[in-house]
Amino acid sequence: MKAVLKQRNLLGIRGLSAGEITYILDTAETFREVSEREIKKVPTLRGRTIINLFFEPSTRTRTSFEIAGKRLSADVINISSSSSSVSKGETLLDTARNLEAMSPDLIVIRHPSAGAPHQLARVCRASVVNAGDGSHEHPTQALLDALTIRQRKGDFKNLRVAILGDILHSRVARSNAHLLTTLGAQVSLAGPGTLAPPELASLVEGSELRVERRIEDAIEGADVVMVLRIQRERQDNAFLPSLREYAVHYGLTRKRLALAKSDAIVMHPGPMNRGIEIASDVADGASSLILDQVANGLAVRMAVLYLLGGGLGTMPQGYEPTTQAKSETKKVETQSTAEKATAPLRAAVTAGGSDSSNS
Ligand code: CP
Repeated sequence: MKAVLKQRNLLGIRGLSAGEITYILDTAETFREVSEREIKKVPTLRGRTIINLFFEPSTRTRTSFEIAGKRLSADVINISSSSSSVSKGETLLDTARNLEAMSPDLIVIRHPSAGAPHQLARVCRASVVNAGDGSHEHPTQALLDALTIRQRKGDFKNLRVAILGDILHSRVARSNAHLLTTLGAQVSLAGPGTLAPPELASLVEGSELRVERRIEDAIEGADVVMVLRIQRERQDNAFLPSLREYAVHYGLTRKRLALAKSDAIVMHPGPMNRGIEIASDVADGASSLILDQVANGLAVRMAVLYLLGGGLGTMPQGYEPTTQAKSETKKVETQSTAEKATAPLRAAVTAGGSDSSNS
């Protein structure tokens, strides 16, 4: 089966079609099951090499990309800015060319500069995955957010999503704005005027993105309330009078959350500033899906590595599915299009079984 993901790289959500997004989410759903097994490993990317290149701090993204690669049986190498020769003055492109000389299959990059993954993609034969570039995009975060929303809400059509806080510096907000509007959700952005200026309404061409001045107006009637971190490291001007004042006027409290629908869900990409953009009782409350987001991050990153890394969707010549895999594949011939799209993967994961060997 040919994968329906047209891109060789995942540099952003902008430009992905609704079909491509749905295909990645369907594939991720298939991989969730692997993490529930006793032996959480499949041979899907055995023999492939993944380099994780992180030039900014990260807990969730870096760890989940590493675990994802290892659960797919790839060889995974982690490089951080302090441990790379960039700290000795080497340019990013020279680093990339040197890594490329070692023939990796995938390079995952987080970088403080917008566009760094695109630069890498221009010089590398390996597929490049953007793990967050400056204030530009964080595509796998938006995909894991979408998977979390879909699991709870089912459909995105006319779903009301409020994205609150430091929109201006947020790659998460940008990727989510593209993804959610592409799938038909109604998205409202809100925050202080300095961090959520009205011009952001034109962030996604042809969409009905709203920018509210008062966060209460965005939260009212929302199905999903997504809170963003105040990014002090990207603020070189006086965007906020004080964090205390921000918490009072823009923090998500229980009182403000009560304006949303009674079954609204609360999300935050992490890391959280508790007591600033989100009250602790909201972050830990019954509506919070913050840790579900993290669990889904692993499944989404397995799906992305699988789809771009030439997994079973583009199996090398000579691959002979087992009888069980063949019968699984035959079974899905009568299933829906979405089920059909991930059928070979499901069949192969079943046929390949668990792999407890070290990668
Ligand atoms: N959401 C997110 O990107 O978290 P990390 O910075 O910990 O990777």
